[in-house]
Amino acid sequence: MKVINNIKALRECLAEQRMEGRTIGLVPTMGALHEGHASLVRRSVSENDVTVVSIFLNPTQFNDPKDLERYPRTLEADCRLLEECGADIAFAPSVKEIYPEPDTRRFSYPPTDSVMEGAMRPGHFNGVCQIVSKLFMYVEPDRAYFGEKDYQQIAVIRRMVADLGFRLEIVPCPVIRQEDGLAMSSRNTLLTPEERKTAANIYRIMNESRKLGFSVQQTHDYVVGEINKIDGLEVQYFSIVDGDTLADVSSWDDAPSVVGCITVFCGTKPIRLIDHIRYK
Ligand code: PAF
Repeated sequence: MKVINNIKALRECLAEQRMEGRTIGLVPTMGALHEGHASLVRRSVSENDVTVVSIFLNPTQFNDPKDLERYPRTLEADCRLLEECGADIAFAPSVKEIYPEPDTRRFSYPPTDSVMEGAMRPGHFNGVCQIVSKLFMYVEPDRAYFGEKDYQQIAVIRRMVADLGFRLEIVPCPVIRQEDGLAMSSRNTLLTPEERKTAANIYRIMNESRKLGFSVQQTHDYVVGEINKIDGLEVQYFSIVDGDTLADVSSWDDAPSVVGCITVFCGTKPIRLIDHIRYK
């Protein structure tokens, strides 16, 4: 696997591959890789001739400097995992390489980027669109792989791809869960063992809520109420939305696909955990 730090070298290397008629898969990441990322990389390796994994902790998508500061950085271990998964190129640029000048572009795709995470973390999706659009321009992939764990992110990126006319396929990949149901996330490593156990209740309760035959409002209140009863967990929001537009629904019949998206504060630091569940 080649580790490339600059855009020029990346472009030259990929131009050669494209000349040979090879297809290119891109897996954008911020590092601190885990089994969830590994599943995206393996899928890309199985569907493309060349797989590029970007490792870039993108400052423009963090609206809380403390969150950026404590984000785990594990480049060496990340590269080892990528080798094992069969990635061809790890693209690990510096912040200066990606943003030699501040990125003044503004992206706006409501309601996908204005609700839920968009409302809680102003500017977050603007930063995601800034980096992902740059990566698409540098790599020109045939396919780009994103984990469904960040469900809202995929909806926003789909809108950006349609808006800017990128010719690539967005491949959403299912959430990888630990045995007790907790969605894999780089942030899980920031939890104490006790908090880690408590966090498993989030998925357990959302999953239970599917089986109760409740209305949308009752389901919402059940999930929020049950999670908030647990010491060390506090729901920031739980929204039951149209799975495509992310607009709120008030009845299960309001949309062809309905998803519940949740963010929960866990522990004393606290760590924000994101998850979702499909109701239909
Ligand atoms: O999902 C992430 O890890 C990031 O938001 C992404 C897509 C790599 C952009 O920085």
